[in-house]
Amino acid sequence: MTANLASFLYLVSGVLFIMALRGLSHPTTSRQGNFYGMVGMGIALATTLLYATPSFGGLLLIVGGIAVGGTFGAVVAKRIAMTAMPQLVAAFHSLVGLAAVMVAAAALYSPESFGIGEVGAIHAQALVEMSLGVAIGAITFTGSIIAFLKLDGRMSGKPILLPLRHVVNAGLAIALVVLVVMLVAGQSTTVFWLIVLLSLVLGVLIIIPIGGADMPVVVSMLNSYSGWAAAGIGFTLGNLALIITGALVGSSGAILSYIMCKGMNRSFISVILGGFGGETAVAVDDGLDRTVKQGSADDAAYLMQNAQKVIIVPGYGMAVAQAQHALRELSDKLKAHGVEVKYAIHPVAGRMPGHMNVLLAEAQVPYDEVFELEDINSEFSQADIAYVIGANDVTNPAARDDKTSPIYGMPILDVDKARTCLFVKRSLGSGYAGIDNTLFYKDGTMMLLGDAKKMTEDIVKAMED
Ligand code: TAP
Repeated sequence: MTANLASFLYLVSGVLFIMALRGLSHPTTSRQGNFYGMVGMGIALATTLLYATPSFGGLLLIVGGIAVGGTFGAVVAKRIAMTAMPQLVAAFHSLVGLAAVMVAAAALYSPESFGIGEVGAIHAQALVEMSLGVAIGAITFTGSIIAFLKLDGRMSGKPILLPLRHVVNAGLAIALVVLVVMLVAGQSTTVFWLIVLLSLVLGVLIIIPIGGADMPVVVSMLNSYSGWAAAGIGFTLGNLALIITGALVGSSGAILSYIMCKGMNRSFISVILGGFGGETAVAVDDGLDRTVKQGSADDAAYLMQNAQKVIIVPGYGMAVAQAQHALRELSDKLKAHGVEVKYAIHPVAGRMPGHMNVLLAEAQVPYDEVFELEDINSEFSQADIAYVIGANDVTNPAARDDKTSPIYGMPILDVDKARTCLFVKRSLGSGYAGIDNTLFYKDGTMMLLGDAKKMTEDIVKAMED
């Protein structure tokens, strides 16, 4: 295969990746988007194999790698619960970071195989690209491992705030720049491994002060880093496909982080400098009457059947309980009774962007019943019932009314403006941000304490009876 044909095919796969991203931006086109992505990746892999024409031994290694990695990926993706997706993504990012370090090391020890010079006489440009790739790769590796441990509950979600951490991090960053200059000047392998070591430490130090509630932003940020690391390695390898995909992953991850920060009304800098989350709220003595009105499935069925308009607000608890199918059944029953039903989705409901949309689509909830926050918030005041199922932080009025609240300023779904708010969760405990929700104690709220799926099924049963 000629170099021109290979570049053209890489460009085609790049265009397919862009079409994939576009398709994935809406549930109706997401299957198509996935398909474009798979075709693009297929073309990129085939082109690389045909262009590089590896030896038989090399080919065996590549096929073996694809078989082992592909089988592992397929098995894990099939087994993983939807709620554990953020930590899975974090774990996979760590591998991208590690791969970037490995490729850079291979290029340093065997530059002639990469066409970037000889041992001790590597082109300066390749050395700069290599050191950037390796530094970002190593930071992504350890940073992603810490993010995985926090998200998976294997490590406390509380921010770990070391004394003088900003000074230490800045010192390490300066030392890294000095080492990169030394590597370009002297091409020493010791300096290379020192860069790896410092970057590994920096990855840990950057992520440990960040609180559990900010972890999804961090995962998306690490996603972005892993893209830039891949693009850096793409320059080292002279591989156009890797540069394009790396840049796409890098920029889409950055945009996603921005969207999430906007959804939580937090600045990206404040997330990086250490956030909130991981704690369990203690109800403070603030003079608020904390009596709770508790109801049963029968009460909820009665209220809902006599309503004209019901807005359903799903959150992380719906995902945990896998209540989406029961919810769909409930809304079918209500519609059969002539009740208007809509779904309201907060941009950061659940644990990743689009989490709720995917689950509702899985239960075949019609897309035209599902609305984003800004399109439906004004309708709560005309709704008879807001059925909040496993959502907590995204409904907390403190974000709107209490200037001292850590989540003050985060846009919320105004469920308290509905005539009655039916709140399904298992306890009066806090949500991800670890903040007490004053909505539980309001007059118009009826708590339906129990598992989201069981409670919804019981309401459907009560309606049938
Ligand atoms: P949360 O505030 O985390 O609340 C979920 C609630 O579900 C919990 O309070 C829990 O209460 C309840 N729950 C758990 N399992 C349940 C079950 N089986 N049945 C019924 N209820 C159950 O969720 P949210 O309202 O969706 O808010 C999302 C949070 O994640 C926000 O703080 C947001 O900032 C953060 N976050 C999200 C993202 C993205 S992109 N989605 C990104 C960054 C941060 P009980 O334990 O009492 O049942």
